[in-house]
Amino acid sequence: MTESNKKCRLVILISGRGSNMQSIVETIKSKPLPAEVVAVIANKADAQGIQWAKDQGLVTEIVEHKRFADRQQFDKKLAQVIHQYEPDYVLLAGFMRILTPEFVQQFEGRLINIHPSLLPLFPGLHTHQQAIDAELQWHGCTVHFVTPVLDHGPIIAQGIVPVHHDDTAERLAERLLPIEHHVYNQVVQWLAEGRVRLLPNGRVQVSDQPHRAFVA
Ligand code: GRF
Repeated sequence: MTESNKKCRLVILISGRGSNMQSIVETIKSKPLPAEVVAVIANKADAQGIQWAKDQGLVTEIVEHKRFADRQQFDKKLAQVIHQYEPDYVLLAGFMRILTPEFVQQFEGRLINIHPSLLPLFPGLHTHQQAIDAELQWHGCTVHFVTPVLDHGPIIAQGIVPVHHDDTAERLAERLLPIEHHVYNQVVQWLAEGRVRLLPNGRVQVSDQPHRAFVA
């Protein structure tokens, strides 16, 4: 952040387990990072990560998508709730909802996602199985700025793991998860330090960071 003692305000959106969220929260706690998680929001009342966040004393909110007639209305409410917390960045961490362009545009340049593939390969679901089926020898994850196109947008960082010849989708997902945590934490650190810029040409620049690639 530019002002010396201002902390970077983060809202994290989850749908389930929330291990990426947990890892970000723990990293912020353990390092002297100028960042704070001001709210964790889930679109499902039974999202496991919400209980964990509550136990940590974090502010939590549930905005259940199933209570809304359509995507537009859900996104409108979700945006209202997020705005209350005045975040510098909104981090999607296993948030399994497609967001409307109206929602994305409101948070342009401040909305970040992690996707479990080396984008632009394999947007959408079943990324691990797709990597196996394609006989890729490397699989990975991408942290990127969100645009209205699903799992698409300027890439901030990527991490890779090897694919083993006898992998199942479950085993590969398990191998990838620690590098997901590592890459997302690294990006949060860069964001908190005010080092990430989304350039007018759509490219990303991270100051003093010549490489943004991580290997397990
Ligand atoms: C992660 O693999 C993330 O990349 C994907 O969904 C999974 C969520 O895991 N979008 P968690 O909820 O962070 O544990």
